[in-house]
Amino acid sequence: MQTKTLRINPKNPSISQIRQAAKIIKSGGVVAFPTETVYGLGANALNSKSVRKIFAAKGRPSDNPLIVHISDIAEVGILADSIPNTAYDLMERFWPGPLTIVLKKSKIVPKIVTGGLDTVAIRMPKNKIAQGLIREADVPIAAPSANVAGRPSPTTAKHVKEDLSGKISLIIDGGPTKIGIESTVVDLSKKTPMLLRPGSVTLEQLREIVGAVRIHPIIFGKKTKTIHRSPGMKYRHYSPNAKIILVEGANANQKISQLLRQYKKQGMRVGILSMKKNNAKSDLTRFVGSNPNMIAANLFKSFREFDEKKIDIILAQGISQKGLGLGIMNRLGKAAYKKIRA
Ligand code: TXA
Ligand code: MG
Repeated sequence: MQTKTLRINPKNPSISQIRQAAKIIKSGGVVAFPTETVYGLGANALNSKSVRKIFAAKGRPSDNPLIVHISDIAEVGILADSIPNTAYDLMERFWPGPLTIVLKKSKIVPKIVTGGLDTVAIRMPKNKIAQGLIREADVPIAAPSANVAGRPSPTTAKHVKEDLSGKISLIIDGGPTKIGIESTVVDLSKKTPMLLRPGSVTLEQLREIVGAVRIHPIIFGKKTKTIHRSPGMKYRHYSPNAKIILVEGANANQKISQLLRQYKKQGMRVGILSMKKNNAKSDLTRFVGSNPNMIAANLFKSFREFDEKKIDIILAQGISQKGLGLGIMNRLGKAAYKKIRA
């Protein structure tokens, strides 16, 4: 399959270009498109045959459900049942934006979308291209991140091309995504809300609106019996080929310098994912930023750069888990081969 790239201005998307892409969705195809978090791979959420193409292109396990993207809050009532008021409070505060809400699914949502679960994950993205695409396609769009399963989520159209070229017909290039890590996922289908995936809508912000929010133990990498509430989290994705060693604690800096020398001596290619300006003599030092917003925006891109430079070991220093830090540490932790306290 020939993969075409369509450049669309994210600030002021041309309606004729959006319609060109929407036509593919309407006719049952898949399109990669930018959102404010990461690029998504979209298809008509109400058509099982179309959704199957997403799983095929990504090589995604069929028990890992997809997020349904909408452009109008009224759609929630069609896709979900028994919607609690707290869900509407969250929508009002954070939509459009990087928050996905899990609710009881209605009959209209095909099982393939929800990986067989009786719940559905819904999000209204803020990106204008994404909004336009959903509106013009005139159907809810099921979309996981537009990477091959097991690869870091794409934050540019180039990343999508690397993973999916030849497997899909169209990639919309709307420039780099703003946030850089995937949306926050909160489950409101049970009595107590539960955070299933931390992101740029923070736990603190959620608690301000809905009160108590539990944190799924897998966010901290713990083994758990309630894994089924967060099927996607059990897969070790976000992962570069190189082995990430995540170093936390007061002596992390010294530990990283020591590990750098040690692995270099063993003849390995060592990279440093740095959150401070740093002049260590590694094979590749990527400064991802000194604040959480910058770090999130550059994190997945840096993973891919380490792979391009054939790095064997990536040394990364942990950050505080406050606010967006929880989402960043979750992605680093999931990608990590080893965690060390120093
Ligand atoms: O920012 C994002 O959310 C991006 C953009 C494209 O919107 N999408 C994204 O999709 O990250 P994906 O498929 O890579 O991640 C979806 C996550 C997975 O962890 C999945 O298990 C979870 O949401 N999820 C989806 N439906 C669910 C459900 N019914 N119950 C629990 N978790 C669900
Ligand atoms: Mg994903």
